[in-house]
Amino acid sequence: MADKTLEHIAIIMDGNGRWAKKQGLVRNAGHKKGAQTLLEIAKAAKNTGVKYLTVYAFSTENWKRSDEEISGLMNLLREYLDKNFEDLKKNDIRIIFIGEKYMLDADIVAKMDALEQETRKNKGMTLQVALSYGSRQEIVHAAKKAAELVAKGDIMPEDINENMFSKLLYTSDIPDPDLVIRTSGEQRISNYLLWQIAYSELFFTNTLWPDFTEKELINIVENFKTRERRYGKA
Ligand code: IPE
Ligand code: IPE
Ligand code: MG
Repeated sequence: MADKTLEHIAIIMDGNGRWAKKQGLVRNAGHKKGAQTLLEIAKAAKNTGVKYLTVYAFSTENWKRSDEEISGLMNLLREYLDKNFEDLKKNDIRIIFIGEKYMLDADIVAKMDALEQETRKNKGMTLQVALSYGSRQEIVHAAKKAAELVAKGDIMPEDINENMFSKLLYTSDIPDPDLVIRTSGEQRISNYLLWQIAYSELFFTNTLWPDFTEKELINIVENFKTRERRYGKA
């Protein structure tokens, strides 16, 4: 039987820069609008009944952008961690962060940790924010952890299997995404959740992230329900 269960949506929120350019604004104005869109879409996703929403906010490769863009993004993040996430807290949303935290400023990491702590009992939906995240780095990190466990004698090499390896990833307790949405017309994965999306349905839309709406999300969810997931079976 086809599996129509939609428990986890992952989004690549792309197109902020092009949105800003179209409006004659600086790139960081696009990020600001995109951050507002995230708040709306998180609530909209919760309304569809999904239990997990994972969003790609900043990749490890995005550290290669200009100092000006990066500091604008980090200040926006500080501002959001201070106030705008309040709205999500009130909506019973649990917030967790995945990625290379050590690359972020200490004050930001402290705010992230505090938010995770404050929302850890929220049950409405889990919002997993991929920040300074790269999937290959995550997989290498998991491989190192597995090697350490073997070196310490806690496990034998033959104990390493898909299930235990998944648990060593940053996403350890989160089920794999059923659906991945990328906005802005690009049709690539850009180092996002490579292990976890092995059997996810993919959806690409030309809409730039700041223009993405609840209505479009609902349409994509409807489209997902028409798909047949075969997982290799005949
Ligand atoms: C996505 O929008 C947000 C981040 C990667 C931080 P972009 O900034 O990549 O926007 P485009 O792709 O240049 O339009
Ligand atoms: C992917 O978008 C990362 C995020 C949306 C945070 P990019 O804009 O960085 O991806 P590429 O460079 O077009 O592949
Ligand atoms: Mg982009």
